Amino acid sequence: MTEMKKLKVVVIGGGSSYTPELVEGLLARHHELPVSQLWLVDIDAGMEKAKVIADLTKRMIAKTGCNIEVFLTTDRKQALMDADFVCSQFRAGRIEARLRDERIALKYRVIGQETNGLGGFSNACRTIPIALEIAKEMEALCPNAWLLNFTNPSGMVTEALTKYSTIKTVGLCNVPVNMERGAAEMLGVPRDEITMQIAGLNHLVWARKVLHNGQERSREVLEQLVAGNDRMTPKNIPPFRWDEGLLKSLDMVPCAYLRYYYQSRDFLDKEFAASSNKSNRADLVAKVEAELLEIYKDPTLDTKPQLLEERGGAYYSEAACELMNSIYNNKRSIMHVNTRNNGAIQGLPDDCAVEVSSLITSSEIIPLNVEPFETGTLRLIQLMKEFETLTVEAAISGDINLAKRALMLNPIVDSGAHIDEALQETIRENLDFMPKFAHALNQ
Ligand code: G6P
Repeated sequence: MTEMKKLKVVVIGGGSSYTPELVEGLLARHHELPVSQLWLVDIDAGMEKAKVIADLTKRMIAKTGCNIEVFLTTDRKQALMDADFVCSQFRAGRIEARLRDERIALKYRVIGQETNGLGGFSNACRTIPIALEIAKEMEALCPNAWLLNFTNPSGMVTEALTKYSTIKTVGLCNVPVNMERGAAEMLGVPRDEITMQIAGLNHLVWARKVLHNGQERSREVLEQLVAGNDRMTPKNIPPFRWDEGLLKSLDMVPCAYLRYYYQSRDFLDKEFAASSNKSNRADLVAKVEAELLEIYKDPTLDTKPQLLEERGGAYYSEAACELMNSIYNNKRSIMHVNTRNNGAIQGLPDDCAVEVSSLITSSEIIPLNVEPFETGTLRLIQLMKEFETLTVEAAISGDINLAKRALMLNPIVDSGAHIDEALQETIRENLDFMPKFAHALNQ
């Protein structure tokens, strides 16, 4: 038998409290995914936290006896040299930026969520230039490596990377994984008997089919949702009931994020109410993160703590590590990822990023063709894709008119003079990350 190649995995944003999730997934697959070096990269400001995470990582590895060396560094280039897989999970501006995004958005009475509304726009403009800088470094230092992106807003960041870099990039999200797990629980069947056909954009996806051992069971899943038995919604989305009439009118299962579109006023009201006692998502995450860090410091802890499952990204290692495994072993498995459309969803450009069930091989990701969407849904996808595409262009160029057009099109950001003011405040408060927009600031 030929010896398996030793793999170097790099995690950008390695000091994230999510890292133990990733480590758990790598360890569970070590017999077929022989990682020998794990590099955690973070910035100076994140080093105190990153040291705690690196120590826990080492304890988790030691417990299993796997032979993986852990490196913690601020030197991104040193880490990227000859990497095989690069996982991107950094948050530009850290949690403080997410808190600011939510605060600014709610001040102007629009949704501030980190991936879709004004918050998603702001996050994209901060993050995309950095993501492209990392990809450029990869082109020089590890041109054959795969870049697995879960940095949010994952759909827009993946689109920027697939359009403007030659690095093989796949965008990931745990929402489809949560949907499959949830459907299995709701139907009372083993998880591995469920197959979904996922299609749409990141955080704007539907399960076009829910197959249980080949039998279509979407209707039953929709009925369970109508009855309030929702096991699909990740922890970061406020738990409120789906609109019954809407669910009854659908013949596919919407992801939890679609309530931002189908029930946007309800969401806004909920966010607004939460902001009065500082319990919006970013506020809660800041608290959970602080608690997690204290737990991680315990020198006897050598497993992923339960509290991490309170975060919206729970189970993302299932997506990330299985993807690495499938690529490395050319498993030709079907996974739900963000990749170049290449005609899979009719009515969208070939070169845009879509989230779709795809065949995973060691040389490429092949998106599977999707049955055409009915017109109304297609229009929503097209509108959001236009928002995403314009946002990517604005993030790269600093063109304020593109930024305004993007926001005007976004169906969950209502337009008006307040958006000009919100944009000004967003740029002013994020100037370190958005210097290209400086020219657009009113004096
Ligand atoms: C979901 C999304 C991720 C997001 C996470 C946020 O699972 O799919 O894109 O990062 O939630 O969770 P948090 O606990 O940070 O609010």
